[in-house]
Amino acid sequence: MVKPIIAPSILASDFANLGCECHKVINAGADWLHIDVMDGHFVPNITLGQPIVTSLRRSVPRPGDASNTEKKPTAFFDCHMMVENPEKWVEDFAKCGADQFTFHYEATQDPLHLVKLIKSKGIKAACAIKPGTSVDVLFELAPHLDMALVMTVEPGFGGQKFMEDMMPKVETLRAKFPHLNIQVDGGLGKETIPKAAKAGANVIVAGTSVFSAADPHDVISFMKEEVSKELRSRNLLD
Ligand code: DX5
Ligand code: ZN
Repeated sequence: MVKPIIAPSILASDFANLGCECHKVINAGADWLHIDVMDGHFVPNITLGQPIVTSLRRSVPRPGDASNTEKKPTAFFDCHMMVENPEKWVEDFAKCGADQFTFHYEATQDPLHLVKLIKSKGIKAACAIKPGTSVDVLFELAPHLDMALVMTVEPGFGGQKFMEDMMPKVETLRAKFPHLNIQVDGGLGKETIPKAAKAGANVIVAGTSVFSAADPHDVISFMKEEVSKELRSRNLLD
């Protein structure tokens, strides 16, 4: 069984007010925070690294953190690592507060070894594929993964157009792995969510559509409902 999970991408937030921006979307119903880490090599852009994740973790504790006596809003940190040599960053990100480490299939020689390394640090392991990468590469790996990410834009920038032609990859994965968390990332919002939900995605990254909305709660609940509807119709809703 799977749940609908909405993960706003903080790349579209106002970085000068990052903590407040995150509290705002969590209070509006976000389940996870999607944290886009770019190194200027794997993708032609640089975003953020461990010092920011460390600070953000202080302002947004992990769900269930017993030391959160002030009752700050909590969230799962979904780190999308658009970096070369992802192996090099696993330990640091596990230490600075990542809950999940999503590496790119294209960036590693040995994906299964990397999955084991990530899990050995006590966090969840996920694998992403770029638009040009065939979904077949995930078939052997999927049983070992906590989540698969099908990119619906070329990684590197927020605010791009959703690539509907990636939906067959999502359909294939959902048919083969009914209980896997399947994430889509890029160009998701109220207009595009029905297509992603219909294909079988249950973890929805949304940057621009959530952070630039006048009413983020409306966008988040609309997307969650679309995903729930589709999961229910497949008898997969947790
Ligand atoms: C792109 C990033 C995405 C991006 C999504 O490389 O991985 O997470 O921030 O942004 P929107 O939702 O604006 O397309
Ligand atoms: Zn991302």
